[in-house]
Amino acid sequence: MNEQIVILDFGSQYTQVIARRIRECNVYSVILRYDTPAAEIVALQPRGIILSGGPSSVYAADAPLPDKEIFNLGVPVLGICYGLQLIAHYLGGKVEKGLKREYGKGTLQVKDGFCPLFANLPETLQVWNSHGDQLTKIPHGFKAVAVTENSQYAVLENRSRKIFGLQFHPEVAHTPRGREIIANFVHNICGCGKNWTMRNYIDQAVDDIRKQVGGEKVILGLSGGVDSSVAAALLHKAIGDQLTCIFVNNGLLRGKEADVVREVFVRHFKIKLHYEDASKLFLKRLKGVTDPERKRKIIGRTFIEVFQAATKRVGKAKFLAQGTLYPDVIESVPIGGKVEKGLKREYGKGEPLARLFKDEVRELGLELGLPRKIVLRQPFPGPGLAVRILGEVTPKRCDILREADSIVVEEMKASGWYYKIWQSFAVLLPVRSVGVMGDERTYDYTIALRAVESQDGMTADWVKLPYDLLEKLSNRIINEVKGVNRICFDISSKPPATIEWE
Ligand code: XMP
Repeated sequence: MNEQIVILDFGSQYTQVIARRIRECNVYSVILRYDTPAAEIVALQPRGIILSGGPSSVYAADAPLPDKEIFNLGVPVLGICYGLQLIAHYLGGKVEKGLKREYGKGTLQVKDGFCPLFANLPETLQVWNSHGDQLTKIPHGFKAVAVTENSQYAVLENRSRKIFGLQFHPEVAHTPRGREIIANFVHNICGCGKNWTMRNYIDQAVDDIRKQVGGEKVILGLSGGVDSSVAAALLHKAIGDQLTCIFVNNGLLRGKEADVVREVFVRHFKIKLHYEDASKLFLKRLKGVTDPERKRKIIGRTFIEVFQAATKRVGKAKFLAQGTLYPDVIESVPIGGKVEKGLKREYGKGEPLARLFKDEVRELGLELGLPRKIVLRQPFPGPGLAVRILGEVTPKRCDILREADSIVVEEMKASGWYYKIWQSFAVLLPVRSVGVMGDERTYDYTIALRAVESQDGMTADWVKLPYDLLEKLSNRIINEVKGVNRICFDISSKPPATIEWE
């Protein structure tokens, strides 16, 4: 079993960030519900337990509370924000509503330079706070080792019991040295080595997949996106020809998409690939459809139908694999609410990436020898170009957008912006405006350019691309793509706009 840290989730928006920070220290971490029984936690043999933050008050009637036994396991515990308040609440301290909410940047003064959480760190640190409640009395056996402007109990420790608490959030970027505090906890206090690497993961995963699959056959839907591509490379390494990938061309792909997939997976990796060209069927069913929701429904349904038919043609397989990632399977606690019992989802079967975060999947892909152009590619929506052609999707409009999109990708890569941002793409606006080209009057479509920065797609900011790059994109698209005579740049953030236009 991997050395691991268990994180109990009390509904903080940062719980997954804590898990990622720990993994960046090359230590495996898992997120569990706040009320996971201590016996279940012990069974995982964790090296340490972290109590996440959360929006509740520990004294509220419906406060999410952990199994008290976790403090008696002899396993180091670190409470963050609400987690610190839980430690105080359970072990004899006092938590009360603060006079004012402490939110934003603060300065931490470490009073006890021997506290192992702050080994090799300066006495003064910038930290990020976000809490309303305050500790007014610390539990017996604990010591306050650091203060902020508003709190004399910003950090608590009971060194002999190895229980620590931080009032601030070490996991967020606004606590610039927070990674080192977390590293001190996992390495110095919990004694974890640095064994969680994607290189090691390959060996474990290959072993697990072989055990699970035995001599059976596996089918995987390959979209050309990062997750399914990495899943394909990993499965292929484990079971070789027992794996068949199905790639569906829905007629809404980017230029050369199908060629890249064939080049990488068939010619380079020698993976068995079933290529299903259903572009005509998709475009036929989309004819005359303008409503965005209807488009998505038609595409979704047609995909299932085509994929199932292809599965039958490929032959019997016992497993259908998927590139599901860890954030899709964490049984997370809704912010401010409790989860129902018994919702736990079984995962792992046919989901070889279900323990990994996106950045780990990318690293794994590179370790497996996938090219950067696949592993580091920007997200692309399942319904493809259909949600980037406003109104009716026609073959001609697909061609126009595909050409414009290829130019955007090419220039974004050439200028070095492509890999720095979340997404950059073209959108076809099928409204016509007047222009002149040479001596001729034109009456053509508009292309909108969209470039956004984002951490996870949930919120996004438009990217301030340099004017000379915008100029180049505009000139090239108008000169090279027939049917386009005007370019706009989308300067809306999400919210209130979305990233895709439909
Ligand atoms: P929105 O447009 O909702 O997009 O701001 C957020 C992120 O999700 C991607 N996206 C999709 N991905 N199927 C997908 O696989 C979809 O139907 C879909 N719609 C949006 C979008 O590209 C962005 O990264």
